[in-house]
Amino acid sequence: MRSAILGVGHYVPTKVVTNDDLAKLMPTSDEWIQQRTGIKERRFIERDGIGASDLAVPAVQMAIERAGRSMKDIDMILFATLSPDVNFPGSGCLLGDKLGLPGVPALDVRNQCSGFLYSLSVADAFVKAGAYKNILIVGAEVHSTGVELNERGRDVAVLFGDGAGAALVGPSPSEDGGLLSCVLHADGAGAKDLWLPAPASNRIPRLTHEMIDRGEHYPQMNGKQVFRWATEKMPEVSVEAMKAAGLTAADIDLFVPHQANMRINELVARRLGLPAEKIVHNIERYGNTTAATIPIGLSESFAEGKLGAGKHVLMTAFGSGYTWGAAVIRC
Ligand code: ACO
Repeated sequence: MRSAILGVGHYVPTKVVTNDDLAKLMPTSDEWIQQRTGIKERRFIERDGIGASDLAVPAVQMAIERAGRSMKDIDMILFATLSPDVNFPGSGCLLGDKLGLPGVPALDVRNQCSGFLYSLSVADAFVKAGAYKNILIVGAEVHSTGVELNERGRDVAVLFGDGAGAALVGPSPSEDGGLLSCVLHADGAGAKDLWLPAPASNRIPRLTHEMIDRGEHYPQMNGKQVFRWATEKMPEVSVEAMKAAGLTAADIDLFVPHQANMRINELVARRLGLPAEKIVHNIERYGNTTAATIPIGLSESFAEGKLGAGKHVLMTAFGSGYTWGAAVIRC
């Protein structure tokens, strides 16, 4: 028995922030951002008080509707995010409450850009074990409140946007279709290449004025190193996942990579021998929405009619941790 994605949905806030808008806050330019990343604009939450779990609600509603199910069918929530509403409890618990699902177990997955693929793998295992039948997996992020919108933070701030994606995972309704493979990796040796060092339980006290003055409560990134690792590991793990599924690149109809940088994705696709028309990208409109990039890409592809029966979809992600992975589904 295989698990399958039964429905996908997404939601992005209405507030559009262009590169020119950011150039009013820091020394950057539309040209610099577009040339290096492909990003033209991103979405930011409209007001104080909106968290990752709030963005997830409409995304979940869309996924459930497309799956032809109702909220009460959900028997587990997996919530992937690096920007939880609050430090604890997890956003999965907050989402369950907002969806009206008392008693439904909720697990937060803290694997950054690979969070959706890690969640998919966990959901697959639960479905195959018969532990849960309809598992909601969510990737949702509010980055706009956590990046430093000035010169010091510009290398990171221009990359990220807010958004949410969701998928319902359950037993595959068809014999042929479903999740064919999912391969995951991690290497903590690269942890400090992309991390948010404060507040931290290994510091006494967890947060000081000096840490804030140094900007340690904002993400710190070694962009060149992340770029190098991503362009090596995403093709490598994609080949692993295709092999595990008994497929080659020629069999792949749609490639849904994590959206961190258009240049990374073009390079990865080239290394895999996948033509440009098979690559899904929305980074130009949303920036990097971390755990939400893949489900948003799937949801938009569904709306465009690209997920027809029998289509092979390859997904891959790389991010902070380091964590990376790839999965292949047959629709
Ligand atoms: N606008 C203008 N200049 C900037 C900006 C900006 N927003 N940010 C940095 N710079 C400056 C730097 O200060 C540096 O200046 P210097 O040379 O005088 O020191 C210079 O631009 C660096 O430019 P490049 O060398 O051309 O930068 P690079 O080609 O490395 O591109 C980038 C930077 C886009 C960040 C790239 O390294 C990258 O995309 N890396 C991967 C990052 C990534 O994917 N992160 C997220 C993945 S994981 C996740 O999703 C959580």
